Amino acid sequence: MTVLLTISSLIVHFAVLAQGTSNDSKDWQKAFKKADAFVSQLNLTEKIGMITGTLSLATSGCIGNILPVERLDFQGLCLLDGPQAMNRADLVSIFPSGLTAAATWDKDLIYQRGKALGEEFRGKGGHVLLGPVAGPLGRHALGGRNWEGFSPDPYLTGRAMEGTIQGIQSVGVQACAKHYIGNEQETQRSNSFASDGTEIDAISSNIDDRTLHELYLWPFADSVKAGVASFMCSYNRVNQTYACENEVILKDILRDELGFQGYVMSDWFATHSGAKSINAGLDLNMPGVIDASSFITGASYWGANITKYLADGTVSQKRIDDMIQKIMAPYYLLGQDSADFPSVDPSLLFTLAATSGFSLPNVGIPSRDVQGNHAILIRQMASEGTVLLKNTNSALPLKSPKSIGVFGNDVADPTDGLTYGDAYEIGTIDIGGGSGTGRHVYLVSPLEAVRTQARKTGARLQYIIHNEILAANNFVGLYPTPEVCLVFLGTFASEGWDRTEYEADWNSTLVVENVAKRCPNTIVITHSAGLNTLPWADNENVTAIIAAHLPGQESGNSIVDILWGNVNPSAKLPYSIPVNETDYDIPIVNLTDAEVTSPDAWQADFTEGQFIDYRHLDANDIDPRYEFGFGLSYTTFKLQSQLKVEKVVKQLTARPTKTKVSTPGGNAKLWETVLKVRSKVTNTGSIAGATVPQLYVSFPQSGTPVGTPLQVLRGFEKVFLEPGESEDVVFELQRRDVSFWDVKSQDWVIPKGSFGFRVGFSSRDIKSTKNVTLRS
Ligand SMILES: *[C@@H]1O[C@H](CO)[C@@H](O)[C@H](O)[C@H]1NC(C)=O
Ligand SMILES: *[C@@H]1O[C@H](CO)[C@@H](O)[C@H](O)[C@H]1NC(C)=O
Ligand SMILES: *[C@@H]1O[C@H](CO)[C@@H](O)[C@H](O)[C@H]1NC(C)=O
Ligand SMILES: *[C@@H]1O[C@H](CO)[C@@H](O)[C@H](O)[C@H]1NC(C)=O
Ligand SMILES: *[C@@H]1O[C@H](CO)[C@@H](O)[C@H](O)[C@H]1NC(C)=O
Ligand SMILES: *[C@@H]1O[C@H](CO)[C@@H](O)[C@H](O)[C@H]1NC(C)=O
Ligand SMILES: *[C@@H]1O[C@H](CO)[C@@H](O)[C@H](O)[C@H]1NC(C)=O
Ligand SMILES: *[C@@H]1O[C@H](CO)[C@@H](O)[C@H](O)[C@H]1NC(C)=O
Ligand SMILES: *[C@@H]1O[C@H](CO)[C@@H](O)[C@H](O)[C@H]1NC(C)=O
Repeated sequence: MTVLLTISSLIVHFAVLAQGTSNDSKDWQKAFKKADAFVSQLNLTEKIGMITGTLSLATSGCIGNILPVERLDFQGLCLLDGPQAMNRADLVSIFPSGLTAAATWDKDLIYQRGKALGEEFRGKGGHVLLGPVAGPLGRHALGGRNWEGFSPDPYLTGRAMEGTIQGIQSVGVQACAKHYIGNEQETQRSNSFASDGTEIDAISSNIDDRTLHELYLWPFADSVKAGVASFMCSYNRVNQTYACENEVILKDILRDELGFQGYVMSDWFATHSGAKSINAGLDLNMPGVIDASSFITGASYWGANITKYLADGTVSQKRIDDMIQKIMAPYYLLGQDSADFPSVDPSLLFTLAATSGFSLPNVGIPSRDVQGNHAILIRQMASEGTVLLKNTNSALPLKSPKSIGVFGNDVADPTDGLTYGDAYEIGTIDIGGGSGTGRHVYLVSPLEAVRTQARKTGARLQYIIHNEILAANNFVGLYPTPEVCLVFLGTFASEGWDRTEYEADWNSTLVVENVAKRCPNTIVITHSAGLNTLPWADNENVTAIIAAHLPGQESGNSIVDILWGNVNPSAKLPYSIPVNETDYDIPIVNLTDAEVTSPDAWQADFTEGQFIDYRHLDANDIDPRYEFGFGLSYTTFKLQSQLKVEKVVKQLTARPTKTKVSTPGGNAKLWETVLKVRSKVTNTGSIAGATVPQLYVSFPQSGTPVGTPLQVLRGFEKVFLEPGESEDVVFELQRRDVSFWDVKSQDWVIPKGSFGFRVGFSSRDIKSTKNVTLRS
């Protein structure tokens, strides 16, 4: 069952408390002591309430709740979506989506975004922010939720998870690393019922151990290391067992190997058993018991049933206490027991109702405004996450054109309202749909911003918005031909379904070709929830191409900043764009009713192993149209041709020494810096700008098992430089970065043989390499 409610709301800015995120085991130990003391005072009814959520949409606007225990002065926990905006709330900001954040390749901005999101959640009284997302990672280019996460590269996603979690938790709000794990497609992500009532199980993601560790688990390990408070297990099955009752992923890997200290909650209605899920390591059932007054229904296997499990001995009292300790430790760790933690904004109830279409009298409770000055960060981050892919004859930045044309349905204000439910024809796309969406207070469309700019510079502006008119080649409304034609294309995606087309939506290719036929200076901008193939990229009249992804509420201003050169583009693709979709595709499993001959029919075998995105293109020697890590600037940069590789640890052993795993991140030795790679970057052009030197590591094929990618990203730094300025770049590599997961010994191993260290401006634009043997 799916809950796609939509809400929104707000507050005046509160002072930010520097609670500090923590992955320090001592802080966790202190928090656990307080949690122990709390648990010892609870009676059974209260205990059951602590581990089984309560959804009561008549009394709370939180999408997940742990009920208060008034007699112990515990006000309860309020859980709210989502990763790029507080969903179903009013007077909140719509931030750039994860995908746009990843395209900045800017660790500091990613942290600032997490912090600003955290401030808005705290301001509304939200204890838990249900994000960030590392699952889906992006196995499928067309995955419906890829835009909520960051990149199909685990290293880039890992850094983004780390920065986002630390930002959110720095203001005392709990982050939630989700959806754990293998949640790569939306199609049949949950169980369903056939017409004869037979229950059909969710898709099973069948992932081998090495691929799990080196690809899908990698950014989740970074999340644990960053001190994340909670995890959310996903809807799908992993190796035939539902993620939320899978002991291997919840216990053996998350607890015993990664040393995770917080709690695991289920995705909404992703719990499929009682004692089984409890004993497998699920700590919190969401949404839990649903109040009769709510407009959604669904059973919980927990709640009052737990009395029975305790009575018949299938669940122990000790396990229940352990679950509550894990739930309460982050609450104390982040200082949420403090008297100045804001109360839950009561208006959330009304914005939830408005968004979800159930009726509550509008009693006019003013929403708390929590937007602060976040619009500044949003505008800046979106322009710094806008990727310039093509720029022939310096078509950009624009040089004060006196006649401008804008075209396409993505340029205009949304015509169906400012809350996105489903794909609609007219209106710019700045965020996707489902639980990860948000209620706009405002949205600056490209048309609005380009018109403002045109007025300022005395330029004439013509526009045709309907793609139907453009696709039909009907341009009677256009005279004369503008000096520059800006075509805006949109691609929508949402939780709950996967995309089916690689090209941008709504006849985009015909739209571009028809504009280009009459306009030799056609510039195409895409607002997209993911990868698009660009079949018109080589069109002689398409002079520039920009991938702006999902920029958030300042969309129009951010794109004008890039087009007119107020901001020099510095974003890089967080995935590869193939020439042809057949170069790339791992099909989403999509069975017809006739093919579903058993409840177990839905199986996704991850047989490609680690070979997704650039790893696949590299291994098969396929040239992409635009490669992973690629993006142009209005200036030029140079990397020093010599690399220095410095061994920090002189004698490297194959395996890390064993240490206690009670520290977040597991074996501390894995996180020890073992190497430093140094290079130098120079701005050789005439204007200031930023670039991203990237470090790729080639593992020795001879010293590793079959299935090792030719190169993997293991470092990046965003560097801003004035014209002529240079800066040293240092990439620090930790032991895990130069190890592969050895299935036999169940450990990370540094292989023998020659490693290649490769530094460049993209995965295909390597400027310097050096080979070093780490172990003989
Ligand atoms: C906490 O995480 C940060 C960032 O990953 C790291 O620099 C620091 O060493 C970690 N601290 C501990 C105690 O593990
Ligand atoms: C537990 O305490 C609550 C008050 O928080 C009370 O309403 C309830 O009846 C008690 N339950 C038991 C089993 O003692
Ligand atoms: C899933 O099955 C594969 C193949 O047997 C195995 O390598 C892997 O460890 C299993 N993973 C989990 C989480 O059970
Ligand atoms: C007990 O579990 C059953 C499913 O086995 C479920 O239908 C029921 O709602 C649960 N009861 C409570 C109080 O959660
Ligand atoms: C799966 O099949 C259904 C029914 O034919 C279709 O509506 C849906 O778009 C398909 N999804 C994908 C991702 O191909
Ligand atoms: C695409 O264009 C064709 C031809 O004009 C039209 O029939 C079709 O409805 C258009 N499709 C969309 C999605 O606009
Ligand atoms: C490019 O523009 C020129 C001049 O407007 C036109 O003659 C030509 O056909 C166009 N090319 C394409 C591929 O549309
Ligand atoms: C993509 O490749 C397929 C199979 O080789 C081919 O049929 C198709 O025409 C190609 N499409 C494009 C846009 O090149
Ligand atoms: C450098 O190491 C890589 C990875 O092992 C290997 O493929 C390459 O041949 C090596 N190059 C040289 C010059 O040794």
